[in-house]
Amino acid sequence: MTERKKITLPELYKKRATGDPIVMLTCYDYPTACFQDEAGIEMVLVGDSLGMTMLGYESTLPVTMEDMIRHSQAVRRGAPHVWLVGDMPYMSYQPSVESAIRNAGRFMAEAGCDSIKLEGGAEMADRIAGIVKSGIPAMGHLGLTPQSSSALGGFRLQGKSALTAKKIIDDAKALEQAGAFAILLEMVPDRLCKIITERSENSIIISLGAGPGAHGQLLIYHDMFGLYPKFKPRMAKVYGNAGEVILNGLQNYVQEVKSQVFPAPENYFGMKDEDYDQLMEMLG
Ligand code: KIV
Repeated sequence: MTERKKITLPELYKKRATGDPIVMLTCYDYPTACFQDEAGIEMVLVGDSLGMTMLGYESTLPVTMEDMIRHSQAVRRGAPHVWLVGDMPYMSYQPSVESAIRNAGRFMAEAGCDSIKLEGGAEMADRIAGIVKSGIPAMGHLGLTPQSSSALGGFRLQGKSALTAKKIIDDAKALEQAGAFAILLEMVPDRLCKIITERSENSIIISLGAGPGAHGQLLIYHDMFGLYPKFKPRMAKVYGNAGEVILNGLQNYVQEVKSQVFPAPENYFGMKDEDYDQLMEMLG
């Protein structure tokens, strides 16, 4: 049997060059990472969306570097073959280039990530450049950037008008020139995504709700399997309703304990008669 190799950056670039669509997914925990690795997911993002999907916050803003490192470590342990992207949380890179490099380094050194992602356009190009110069592959994130959703007017389509679309095209160019190996386009129109992909010279363009015209696709794992009951974005495709399966199972468990159907003999362990008798004797 040939041993499976870990995905490298040259392999991702090769997929870009040959038009082999890259499959990317978010992941936040060890057991899910094991499944994703086995299924052949190529790029995995430990997104700060874990603040909502795993920790129950209303937004991604309260997520800390410690949260991100802990979850990234678990994902790396479960998915040793994927290209792992650690998502830089709010205020881990915005204050300065220095803070961006230091925190990007933590994802690599402490969690075994292969790269990091941060949100923002031309105004964050110096952070991307500093991180890349430090030898860390950096991914940009444009369009709907959840850390600035308040400034963007909520979770809504970005780059709808010619003017706002042009700004996103310019931002993508600035990130590419700063050395971003990849750029995520979230919730922008499909035509805008296609233009940016066609104009990109080096960066790998990944789409989240931005249509098929990119080099790869990203979904949020919890949206794919009905695991985030509070909200289901229109762009998400549900590949299986694990949330429903889990809820049914939990309701059955409650009902079976109450009606004393559970536990059945196969769910517990007996004791031999001779041991039991001896024990009773000891107890008088
Ligand atoms: O945190 C995350 O999962 C993300 C996605 C919304 C792309 O950044």
